[in-house]
Amino acid sequence: MKRVITYGTFDLLHYGHINLLQTAKQYGDYLIVGLSTDEFNLLQKNKTSYFSYEKRKQLLEAIRYVDLVIPEENWEQKINDVKKYNVDTFVIGDDWTGKFDYLNTESGVEVVYLPRTPEVSTTQIKADLTMLKKNIWAKIFRMDEKIKWKNKLKFVVL
Ligand code: CTP
Repeated sequence: MKRVITYGTFDLLHYGHINLLQTAKQYGDYLIVGLSTDEFNLLQKNKTSYFSYEKRKQLLEAIRYVDLVIPEENWEQKINDVKKYNVDTFVIGDDWTGKFDYLNTESGVEVVYLPRTPEVSTTQIKADLTMLKKNIWAKIFRMDEKIKWKNKLKFVVL
């Protein structure tokens, strides 16, 4: 059985994540996801995820391409994971190109960088939602002003 491993935060799961997981699974028969813990995100990746580790894990486990979810707690564990789980292929998005070549040198595991799905990321989704919220409040404010003016004009006409 060929075993594949990948790592990430996978917060606000989106189609870019699904594409990555689907393609990763095509490299073997068994896909392991090293899921960044909340603490690792906060202290080492400078990220705060919207969903907790447990919720992100639950979502990943519901995906047909994913066979096992393990916690990613530090940058150094990858080499041990690869050995512990008898991994053949390490897969990650090409935003990490070159960063994990050492795994091949140190353990012989195949290292593959997959092209990222364009124009979607958790960071972008969060930014878009913030903008949407701002626009909605601006619209409400403008409508409120319009209604106030209409009422004032009504009063003048009367
Ligand atoms: N990924 C991808 N295509 C995207 C977004 C992510 O292939 N459009 C891949 C990443 O390269 C990584 C995995 O999905 O291998 C998990 O990435 P993660 O950092 O959790 O997702 P992002 O959406 O990139 O999150 P953020 O914006 O917080 O970095």
